[in-house]
Amino acid sequence: MSRVALVTGGSRGIGAAISMALKEAGYTVAANYAGNDEAAAKFTAETGIKTYKWSVADYDACAAGIAQVEADLGPVDVLVNNAGITRDAPFHKMTREQWDQVIGTNLNGIFNMTHPLWTGMRERKFGRIINISSINGQKGQFAQANYSAAKAGDIGFTKALAQEGARAGITVNAICPGYIATEMVMAVPEKVREQIIATIPVGRLGETGDIARCVVFLASDDAGFITGATLTANGGQYMT
Ligand code: CAA
Repeated sequence: MSRVALVTGGSRGIGAAISMALKEAGYTVAANYAGNDEAAAKFTAETGIKTYKWSVADYDACAAGIAQVEADLGPVDVLVNNAGITRDAPFHKMTREQWDQVIGTNLNGIFNMTHPLWTGMRERKFGRIINISSINGQKGQFAQANYSAAKAGDIGFTKALAQEGARAGITVNAICPGYIATEMVMAVPEKVREQIIATIPVGRLGETGDIARCVVFLASDDAGFITGATLTANGGQYMT
């Protein structure tokens, strides 16, 4: 039987590429999404990957959604915490709502998704948790106090949980994408985006597949000795 993988924010952007790459690698994939029904329906029609709607910011919705995925497909072996949002603003303009939304989805979301799955993974003595952090959690980013804080928190979460999962056969790793050509990055004003690209040594934005291939590797049996790691894929923009 093939392993089951659950990808949050899995019907668009980097998440869609991850869902498709895991399917291609032989996993049975469930893609969670929060809002865009049209994109999810199109994604399912094109890929055959089932989509499930709930907000990762809502703990009870995560528990219920995971229960539904497991009833449909079997126990989740691989969780990819990919769902993320931006609400960029210089700090003097940042509202409490912008702070709460980003922390709620990008940081609380990985707790909300991992917690309901943790006991089952421990009992089965296998699990792969892959958290999609960001270059901006490593280096900080102007106008992203909320996002940088959440993404740095994702790395701390990864390192702590890796220590707890190790003896139970569960690896927990983070991937830090740089600027990838997705709707999120295309929403940055063009002039600013050009300035950003000028700071990327490879001279271009990344592609969603660049991140998806990292996920497939970390999910594999070949990566069983890698845990608590932060895998950077940013075209050399920030070298840790
Ligand atoms: N460093 C220093 N100063 C900066 C700056 C920077 N990186 N970026 C902007 N500024 C300055 C501007 O020059 C301007 O200064 P002046 O007032 O002296 O002209 C000021 O800050 C900006 O003031 P504005 O009133 O114009 O700011 P705004 O409220 O319109 O906000 C912005 C504009 C949100 C900062 C916009 O420039 C922006 O979106 N920047 C990009 C932020 C970014 O990189 N976000 C990442 C999104 S992608 C992502 O998050 C995915 C991932 O993981 C990589």
